[in-house]
Amino acid sequence: MADLGAVASGLAHEIRNPLNSLYINSQILEEMLAALPEAMDRKEELLSLARANMKVTQRLNDILSEFLRFARPTAMEFVVTDLNRVVSDTLRFLEVDFARRGIELESVFHPDPLPLFADEKQLRQVLLNILLNAEEAMDKEPKVIKVTTGSERDQPFVRIADNGKGIPRQDRKQIFRLFFSTKKSGTGLGLPIVRKIVREHGGKIGIRSREGRGTTVTISLPSEERSKERLSEQAAERPLPEKVR
Ligand SMILES: Nc1ncnc2c1ncn2[C@@H]1O[C@H](COP(=O)(O)OP(=O)(O)OP(=O)(O)O)[C@@H](O)[C@H]1O
Ligand SMILES: [Mg+2]
Repeated sequence: MADLGAVASGLAHEIRNPLNSLYINSQILEEMLAALPEAMDRKEELLSLARANMKVTQRLNDILSEFLRFARPTAMEFVVTDLNRVVSDTLRFLEVDFARRGIELESVFHPDPLPLFADEKQLRQVLLNILLNAEEAMDKEPKVIKVTTGSERDQPFVRIADNGKGIPRQDRKQIFRLFFSTKKSGTGLGLPIVRKIVREHGGKIGIRSREGRGTTVTISLPSEERSKERLSEQAAERPLPEKVR
């Protein structure tokens, strides 16, 4: 499986260069067409084709970048942090966008800090992907996203509930599949990335959904203490380099 990942990212890199040429060529074509006299036969038609090509190649390039980000092994930067803070930072980032789309944001934070030993940047990525899915699922008024943080059996958790369109039964098994998307311009990388990061933190993700009613995603993570234990256990299990053994 790891090898397949390497092959896939190798392939993605290989596609990059010809794709760039394709983009540049369409750009040159677009410029040349734009410079032609207005009266030229079918100028507008040709121009819009050239522009469509630029858009499509740009889109392919975005998919490749996102995929490469997913496939690349990431060095985790664990720090002592607070789940409440990571969640509120991420929400602040989305507030304007939510307001613009008429989404009501209700947040309920656990009264005490929820200490974690985690990679903040990656956790923000997790929250962002889930919140964007919630935003994109909204199909009727009132649009409400409710975010709750808490602690259950000493495990900090964050729960994101939307009252959007929900996930149809037949899609539920597929939502974590790489590139599975029901959206016109979705890449289908959001949830696979979420699951990868949560697993790397030793956490769990749970999704409950009812069609037409909404979706609730819960991420629970090991506490700071548990996370540190887990990492030192992992380090102890790792075999020593050949020479020292
Ligand atoms: N909150 C939600 N409400 C309804 N459907 C959802 C929700 N979250 C995920 N889904 C379903 O799961 C699919 C996969 O989600 P995922 O985030 O992996 O990809 P995407 O959102 O389609 O694209 P990307 O996140 O890469 O832009 C979505 O296309 C959608 O069908
Ligand atoms: Mg998504």
